[in-house]
Amino acid sequence: MIELAPGLILHPARFSRAHQEALLADIREVVRAAPLFTPTMPRTGKPFSVRMTNCGSLGWVSDRDGGYRYQATHPLTGEPWPAMPPTLIDAWRELAGFDPPPEACLVNFYDAGARMGLHVDADEKEPRAPVLSFSLGAACLFRYGGPKRNDPTRSVKLSSGDVVVIGGESRFCYHGVDRLYPATSTLIANDARINLTLRRVTPA
Ligand code: SIN
Ligand code: FE2
Repeated sequence: MIELAPGLILHPARFSRAHQEALLADIREVVRAAPLFTPTMPRTGKPFSVRMTNCGSLGWVSDRDGGYRYQATHPLTGEPWPAMPPTLIDAWRELAGFDPPPEACLVNFYDAGARMGLHVDADEKEPRAPVLSFSLGAACLFRYGGPKRNDPTRSVKLSSGDVVVIGGESRFCYHGVDRLYPATSTLIANDARINLTLRRVTPA
């Protein structure tokens, strides 16, 4: 494991290929029940380049009128989110260092041109719980900085099977994804990447 910054821990190749395939199969089930949607920015309504869905009791959504928020239902189907697969809950137990279970798993689907601007994960009400991030498919350039938008940033390449723990002093650090690396996915077709983030949303 590599401490990128205090509390920001990279576990390279934490998941074996077999484990990645099992996770991907679980996520395909989730997407069948809760189709990917395109979130939009608060106020401007500008679409994200990443498509999303969720599993767990709560899911993160964003749109022009409602802004960033967690809610119990899919924004398009109105259905409750599918249950979180046990593989993910097991991973939280192993890696989070925080007993109460995660409530949300945000599934980010990046196609080859997608990116994610610098932001802080700040919509959760349990600051003691980390965010756990799992990478599947194409490699990406992940950027991270400090608690202020204009703090200096560094970047690291994340590959399929890597896990990042965003916790401790880095729980509210700015982070984002600059770009994907072409032709680096042997797991997902069309050079796509899936990122899963597990979150505790309500106070434990
Ligand atoms: C996120 O910050 O929500 C996504 C990070 C990633 O895709 O690695
Ligand atoms: Fe994030």
